[in-house]
Amino acid sequence: MRLVLGIESSCDETAAAVVAEDRRILSNIVLSQLEDHRAYGGVVPEIAARAHLDHIERVVSEAMATAGVGFADLAGVAATTGPGLIGGVIVGATVGKSVALVHDKPFIAINHLEGHALTCRLTDDVPFPFLLLLVSGGHSQFLSVTGVGQYRRLGGTIDDAVGEAFDKTAKMLGLGFPGGPAVEQAALSGDAARFALPRPLLGRPGTDLSLSGLKTAVRLAAEKLPAPVSAQDLSDLAASFQAAVGDLLADRLKHALADFLAEHPNGKHVVIAGGVAANKALRARLQTTVATAGLELVAPPLKLCTDNGAMIAWAGLERLRRGESHGFDAPCRPRWPLDAAA
Ligand code: KG4
Ligand code: ZN
Repeated sequence: MRLVLGIESSCDETAAAVVAEDRRILSNIVLSQLEDHRAYGGVVPEIAARAHLDHIERVVSEAMATAGVGFADLAGVAATTGPGLIGGVIVGATVGKSVALVHDKPFIAINHLEGHALTCRLTDDVPFPFLLLLVSGGHSQFLSVTGVGQYRRLGGTIDDAVGEAFDKTAKMLGLGFPGGPAVEQAALSGDAARFALPRPLLGRPGTDLSLSGLKTAVRLAAEKLPAPVSAQDLSDLAASFQAAVGDLLADRLKHALADFLAEHPNGKHVVIAGGVAANKALRARLQTTVATAGLELVAPPLKLCTDNGAMIAWAGLERLRRGESHGFDAPCRPRWPLDAAA
């Protein structure tokens, strides 16, 4: 039974996990840096890199101890080598390479986005091919996934990422940081029909997304709220925003599904991954679209949607069992698209 240690440090979570080839998660330690960044209303790259450096040894040790294994028991060490905030990526990748070097284990360099993309195979054993909606703080795209390392982009955002739109909306409404969970929480008690917000590109052909017009509309609506602004006003605007995003994603997903099924008529699964996939309202909205098309929506459990080490360990196992590993000169990359065509 092969075990892989996975290390993730590309944004504001310092994370490490041990995962077994039979899809058991033996440990999954995630240390959030939220408090370090809260005062700034967003992730500060230099603070993130220093915080990773301060905590990563402890997080890795804890992942190993919780799993009850030693480094000698590992079949390999995987670490995120991009894309992400480069200071943090370098910290995690260097620790991963060092553990691999000292204990004479293969090192596997993982694309963070591939970690999100393959999580559904760790949690639900989803077979290829599947249609993936990857929605995180920096990325929003539809991908046809036909194998490990085989991603074809069907469309994606032409301006803001969905997570970024949530974060900016939260900031404009003063709901705090991180934005996604704050908007979702506020929307729970809101009236989604109160504000008529635009749905850019809705009904247009193609699979591309646009969110900047919606963001501007939220700002204008927020500025027009009569003082004093009440919690109910904010909840209503948050709910209206979230409903608009749901409508947009559902519409674009229909187009992506048509493209995907034209190529893979027997395809059965649609997967939603990345931090925004933790949003329960959006999951429910997309569930309806996917079920109507006769396919199955797979969404990882909430704590495996946001950044974690288990997804990196699993991607490492997928690569390792194909006989792949990488040299200690594997580069750290701030930008690293998943699809080869990009
Ligand atoms: O995948 P992730 O943890 O980090 C990146 O790789 O970007 O995604 C973080 C993004 C943030 O923009 C955050 O606001 C968003 O995911 N997010 C959510 C929710 N939880 C996290 N967006 C909407 N609803 C949520 N519940
Ligand atoms: Zn992520």
